[in-house]
Amino acid sequence: MVFYFTATGNCLYAARQLDKNTMSIPQVMRSRLRHFSDDAIGIVYPIFGHRPPELVRRFLREVTLDTPYLYIIPTYGARHANAVDIVSDICREAGKTPAYIHTLLMVDNYLPAFDMDEQRAMDKHVDEQLAGIKADIGAGKHYIEPVTDADREAHEQFLAYEKSLPSDTLNGLVYATDRCIGCGVCSRVCPGGCIHMAGGRAVFDYTNCQGCLACAHACTQRAIALRIPERNPNARYRNEHVTVQDIIYANNQLG
Ligand SMILES: Cc1cc2nc3c(=O)[nH]c(=O)nc-3n(C[C@H](O)[C@H](O)[C@H](O)COP(=O)(O)O)c2cc1C
Repeated sequence: MVFYFTATGNCLYAARQLDKNTMSIPQVMRSRLRHFSDDAIGIVYPIFGHRPPELVRRFLREVTLDTPYLYIIPTYGARHANAVDIVSDICREAGKTPAYIHTLLMVDNYLPAFDMDEQRAMDKHVDEQLAGIKADIGAGKHYIEPVTDADREAHEQFLAYEKSLPSDTLNGLVYATDRCIGCGVCSRVCPGGCIHMAGGRAVFDYTNCQGCLACAHACTQRAIALRIPERNPNARYRNEHVTVQDIIYANNQLG
C-alpha cells in the first residue's frame, strides 16, 4: 500500500504509479485507523520548504507501519535541499526506519516563486524517474538518497527567507477575493477542513491550514489570492492525470 498527501495531484499521480492500493493521509488522519501492515508500504508527499506537510508529520508520529520495506518519495519542483535528512530525522523520532528514500522532481506548484504556465511547459521526465523508482522498489532496493553540504546550505537560505516573511505568512497565505462566487470547491479540496461558505463566499479558519495551496489552484474563478506577490496570478495548476474529483476524494474533510 502507498499513502499520499496531495494538493494539486502530483503525489497522487506518483502514488498510483507505485502501488494500486493508494490511501489518502488526510483521510487516514480523519479516521481512527492507526495500524497498517503490508509487504511494502510507501509514503509520497510534497515538500513544503523542504519539510513534509504538518499532516504528514503527524501521520508519521501517530501510525504504526508494520512492514519489512518502508519507502518514502518526497516530491518537489525546484530544490529538494535536505528534505531527505529532514524526513529521516522525523522517522527516527517516530521509531520508523525507511529502507528507501528517493526524491521525485515534478511541476513546482509554489505560486509565489513559479509561473504555472512555464512549469507546465517544462519536461521534468517524471515518468522516467518514476520507472526507475518503481524498479528499485520492486527489487526491494535499500537506498537513502545522499544529502550534500550544498543541500544543507540551501535549507539555511530557505530558513532566512522564511524569517524575512511576516510571521505566519506561510500558514494562512491565502484569502478569498471579491471574485469568489461561493461554489465551495475550495472547501472540498482542503485537506485541513479550513474553509466554509458563509454569505455566499469562502471563509477561512487557518488553524489546521497546511499551506498547500490546494484551494488556490482548484478555484475556477481565480478568486483565491495570496498575501505575498505571485509570479502569475492567472495561472493555476493540476496534474494532468488527476481530476478535481480525485483531489476532493483525497482531501475532503466535510460531511
Ligand atoms: C507551500 C509550498 C512550499 C513548497 N516548497 C518547495 C520547496 O521548498 N522546494 C521545492 O522544490 N518545491 C516546493 N514546493 C513544490 C511542491 O513540493 C511540488 O510542486 C509537489 O510536487 C506538489 O505536489 P502535489 O501536486 O501532490 O500537491 C512547494 C509547494 C508549496 C505549495
